Amino acid sequence: MGEIERLAQLIIESKKTVVFTGAGVSTESGIPDFRGPGGIWSRYDPEDFTIQRFLSSPAARRILWKMSAESGLLTEAEPNPAHYAIAELHELGKLDCVITQNIDNLHQKAGVPENKVFELHGNTRWAVCLSCRRRFPMLEVLQRIKEGIEVPDCPDCQGILKPDAVLFGEALPPETLKEATRRSRNCDLFIVIGSTLVVYPAAYMPTYAREAGARLAIVNLTPTPLDRYATVVIYGEAGKIMPKVMEKVRLS
Ligand code: APR
Repeated sequence: MGEIERLAQLIIESKKTVVFTGAGVSTESGIPDFRGPGGIWSRYDPEDFTIQRFLSSPAARRILWKMSAESGLLTEAEPNPAHYAIAELHELGKLDCVITQNIDNLHQKAGVPENKVFELHGNTRWAVCLSCRRRFPMLEVLQRIKEGIEVPDCPDCQGILKPDAVLFGEALPPETLKEATRRSRNCDLFIVIGSTLVVYPAAYMPTYAREAGARLAIVNLTPTPLDRYATVVIYGEAGKIMPKVMEKVRLS
């Protein structure tokens, strides 16, 4: 039995599947990943994206807003076949939830209900003021950038405005992290799609699942440190692999 059939079989047998995604699930939507060839960290310095740097340096804030505005992370990107295959898992009643490191909102755009998407690293639909904590729709802030304001501040109190995504050195949203951990410990199949699994605490999730007795499957372009623990590992493009897997699941 090939790996595609094997993964389809695991899904058919599963009562509670959790899908865990990283930037690799969105590259076929035109959003660059971080550590793949030509990834964001090959063009930007991660040091510029720590919360400390963001708070202390207007230049770092300018880079972050510039990158956000130009990298399509915010609005133009559309889901690709991998996102739709995951949404189909939900339509078939097989999906417990999606735990994602992505901030691009593409799982929701593809049809996974909001209450089934846990965004460990926040999202870019909102910007939050670090002084008065008011939140603003990102589209409004982007409009101001397009009008030439390089470092938008809070329209109410002129405090520092930050995309609602988690920067290095920042705590992950506690409630989201707690619920994602609980879901990982309560599933019987944990499918990783498009992640190097090197950034913690997000990368603990597959281990929590395994410790709880779940089977692990990994779909990724390149090897990951957890491949040896997986029941199924499929190397390749998620946008090509996942529709083939779902075709087999549908036929069952
Ligand atoms: N199909 C499958 N895998 C892919 C595809 C694709 N089309 N494109 C890229 N990949 C793989 C890459 O080979 C890489 O192993 O997806 C993985 C993406 O890994 P990263 O770029 O490290 O992204 P991610 O794992 O999500 O990073 C985690 O790091 O910088 C922080 O906060 C950022 O959320 C991010 C976190």
